[in-house]
Amino acid sequence: MKFTVLTFGCQMNVHDSDWLIRAMESRGWTAVEESEADIFIINTCSVRDKPEQKVYSVLGRLAPLCKNPGSFVAVGGCVAQQIGDGFLEKFPHVRLVFGSDGIAQAPDALVDLAANHEKRLVLTDFLGDYPEREGGEVQPNADLIPPGIGTIPGQAFVNIMQGCDNFCAYCIVPYTRGRQKSRSSEAVIKECAHLVKSGVREITLLGQNVNSFGIDKKGEDISFAQLLYKISAIEGLERIRFTTSHPKDIAPEVIKAFGELPNLCPSLHLPVQSGSDRILKKMGRKYDRERYLGIVEGLKEACPNISLTTDLIVGFPGETDEDFEQTMDMLERVRYESSFSFKYSDRPGVAAVKMKPKVPEDVAQARLARLQERQKRITRKSLEALEGHETVVLLERLSKRQEEGGMTWRGKDPGGRVVNVHFAGYGEEQKLGGKLVKVKITEAKNHSLVGAKVGEPW
Ligand code: 5AD
Ligand code: SF4
Repeated sequence: MKFTVLTFGCQMNVHDSDWLIRAMESRGWTAVEESEADIFIINTCSVRDKPEQKVYSVLGRLAPLCKNPGSFVAVGGCVAQQIGDGFLEKFPHVRLVFGSDGIAQAPDALVDLAANHEKRLVLTDFLGDYPEREGGEVQPNADLIPPGIGTIPGQAFVNIMQGCDNFCAYCIVPYTRGRQKSRSSEAVIKECAHLVKSGVREITLLGQNVNSFGIDKKGEDISFAQLLYKISAIEGLERIRFTTSHPKDIAPEVIKAFGELPNLCPSLHLPVQSGSDRILKKMGRKYDRERYLGIVEGLKEACPNISLTTDLIVGFPGETDEDFEQTMDMLERVRYESSFSFKYSDRPGVAAVKMKPKVPEDVAQARLARLQERQKRITRKSLEALEGHETVVLLERLSKRQEEGGMTWRGKDPGGRVVNVHFAGYGEEQKLGGKLVKVKITEAKNHSLVGAKVGEPW
């Protein structure tokens, strides 16, 4: 069968889609471009209204492509979990709906539906434990994965937990991904060791709230800090990252790890959401400015060159100009290298839906624009401060912009910053994805750096 996967949303979704592609290919299916596909899998995101609306427009676009009997759409991910069999009622060309825990069964379900044209299935039950997926511990190495499907050579993502118990007032995730479920540390460590053995140099540990790894196991398993130390010790692993972290759950041992573990990358995404204590309280974040800034101080002490990034929401119900100024102040104090910022958007069933007063759209928009402008300047300044410094880049793929007389590759430094590096005299046949190269930063752009290579890639 020829299939295609369309992915929206976070890194967890990207990783789920990669796994699904491998699982289908191991069943003899072929991943193709949308225009050649018979079966369309949409992996959806419902964190804000916009990505949710995208699903409906994609479904509309795909309807005329599902005219022959073997053709259909499968909707997976967070909107699938949220809407469930509503998709089957509204869209005759949708024949499979699978949620966060249902994904483990999706490959066999897809094969079944491709053979039985009358059948339709909904897999949206939540399970008690993390559903281990086939190949979880023996993920094929990067070289075995067909190129061009979103896998970056030399890098791998490993799920360590699923779901979230925090119920922040704005967030739909606890409803779409369910309660927190940690994987067993043994399975995680085995998978990481296998990946490193097969050539992976950088591992990113994934979960909605990685810092509370193991808490659902009630002391039966190790803590997140202990897991980090164990994975760090895997011989040959050059880089470890993890995402996402809730500030209230980051343990002192994890902060300390940034100073102690040589392969733990000096970068952390630490969503603050708001700089106002009043709004943080309404959001149910369970930390205040002071506590957050204390964590930042600890991190900078342990690892002076740590690159911090964050998520911010503007226009949360009841947010005043004063509250917003506090958020602007947070940007200056922490000096995030970059941030993702969003206008608050009502999500079905979350506590903030009932909170009042709602901030008018134009006010929220103006705040967002101001915040993003300030961030742009801070990002630019922090990138400029790196000019002249030496660093190591893990190369990912060819840069979009190429120049004569060689090839330009794009990769990331340990801080997670994008660096473009030119290789004079190199041709397209020289594949540098997954290689490391020492560079000197020669220029800062708005969102990326330019580096000149110092020595040969390895
Ligand atoms: N409205 C706007 N932004 C939201 N986020 C989560 N829920 C909402 C919402 N209802 C943002 C948060 C989160 C990021 C993934 O999306 O900043 O960290
Ligand atoms: Fe979107 Fe959140 Fe689901 Fe990720 S977990 S796909 S960000 S709603």
